[in-house]
Amino acid sequence: MSGHRLAMAPAAAACLLAGVLVLLVAPGAGLGQGDGGGSGAAPTGLAARGRALFVAGCSSCHGYRANGIHGVAPSLRGVGALAADFYLSTGRMPLDSPADEPVRTKPAYTPAEIGALDAYIGTFGGPPVPRTSLAGTSLAHGESLFMANCSGCHQAAARGGIVPGGFAPALDNATTTQILEATRIGPYLMPRFGPRLLTDAQVASIARYLGYVRTAPDRGGWGIGHIGPVPEGMVVWFAAVPFVLLIARLIGERTER
Ligand code: HEC
Ligand code: HEC
Repeated sequence: MSGHRLAMAPAAAACLLAGVLVLLVAPGAGLGQGDGGGSGAAPTGLAARGRALFVAGCSSCHGYRANGIHGVAPSLRGVGALAADFYLSTGRMPLDSPADEPVRTKPAYTPAEIGALDAYIGTFGGPPVPRTSLAGTSLAHGESLFMANCSGCHQAAARGGIVPGGFAPALDNATTTQILEATRIGPYLMPRFGPRLLTDAQVASIARYLGYVRTAPDRGGWGIGHIGPVPEGMVVWFAAVPFVLLIARLIGERTER
């Protein structure tokens, strides 16, 4: 065993040397001299800026060439600008520790920096950041699509809910672009909905419905947390039944005379 370990020492030293070389070369590559995009061409312009941000903020987990580090973080080759944009614009990335669960927080980067990182990750292929528009969308159609596909986890009023093994977040803050991105990615426990299942236009209708739910006046009657008809029925029992009994009693007292 100790002989094996000794034999490993030169290999480890070589690895260390290679690591140092990468550290020395990588910043230069950020300026457009080294390996960058999947095509082998050096990234230029926006993508080059994105690469510099990537080396500084993401490479410790995702690797210098975005090809992932085994046991730490996945390769980002082929996830596309779409996934980068979703994870960055919702503040899910960068993580502090690889063991953390990505959750929505305030984005760590400005929109311009996110655009640069998206462009860099996009050089490795994969879907672009989707273009979205609410033109021609239908609120009613969006509502029925949301009820059929999403409300099982996110709840009818999109306030979030428990799903087996986790929690589906409220959709209060998601933009139309993020809604389309999440649908295509299927982050964490959420299933992926491809364009055959839900077209871009159908997802836009869902986004319109979510925008409506967010701004609509409280539709839950007495604002009892939108938990639905069961507790509303209870409230009726607690409030209305004593009232009805009181009336009955008053009527009864009158006829007794
Ligand atoms: C501390 C480690 C860490 C850092 C730093 C980090 N990530 Fe991640 N990243 C992860 C892990 C772990 C996952 C897998 C998360 C999961 O699926 O639960 C991930 C997932 C992703 C995904 C989703 C990949 C997919 O398969 O859909 C994207 C996109 C991403 N990271 C982008 C970035 C970018 C861009 C940065 C830099 C701004 C960054 N990450 C910084 C650890 C990290
Ligand atoms: C099986 C349960 C499930 C279904 C069905 C589901 N989701 Fe999700 N959704 C989740 C979970 C869990 C997350 C959190 C993922 C994470 O944080 O990585 C999520 C996250 C999201 C987000 C990101 C929210 C944010 O603030 O960042 C959006 C947007 C979203 N879902 C929209 C939808 C839409 C639209 C549908 C229907 C087409 C849908 N979801 C169907 C479970 C589900």
